Amino acid sequence: MTVLDILHFPDSRLHQVAKPVSQVDDRIRQLVSDMAETMYAAPGIGLAATQVNVHERIIVIDVSEERDELRVFINPEITASSEDCKLFEEGCLSVPGVYAEVERPDRVSVRALDENGKTFVVNADGLLSVCVQHEIDHLNGRVMVQYLSRLKQSRLRARIAKAERELG
Ligand code: NI
Repeated sequence: MTVLDILHFPDSRLHQVAKPVSQVDDRIRQLVSDMAETMYAAPGIGLAATQVNVHERIIVIDVSEERDELRVFINPEITASSEDCKLFEEGCLSVPGVYAEVERPDRVSVRALDENGKTFVVNADGLLSVCVQHEIDHLNGRVMVQYLSRLKQSRLRARIAKAERELG
């Protein structure tokens, strides 16, 4: 297994829309295993392939306390969303140190393929619901900071640019 490099905002590659996986084969399973390794090493609770510069629709998530419940979603689709929404302060491995309050549907149903190419459906609530919606956004080229006001976004860009200059 390999720990992959994670792209950081404002890298334009984070805005590329990922393509569906046409066949779940050994190449995909290797990528899933590397993505899981990368997520656990970070450490994070979710990672989308887009964040490691692979533009295919694959997500790994583990919201368990013991860090032993890996969930893999290939070609995930939200098939139903609750009307009631919730605000949650989200972080992102591609935007280290930044937290943004994002409002999303409280519960979603997600249909996806597992590592064996088998379809499954999960009814997600709580942290899993937030996380799966956040990661599907990544596959669609959307980064959580895009939920911030324009003013906050431009302040954030300025802060990142300054930090990069200081690092040389
Ligand atoms: Ni993220």
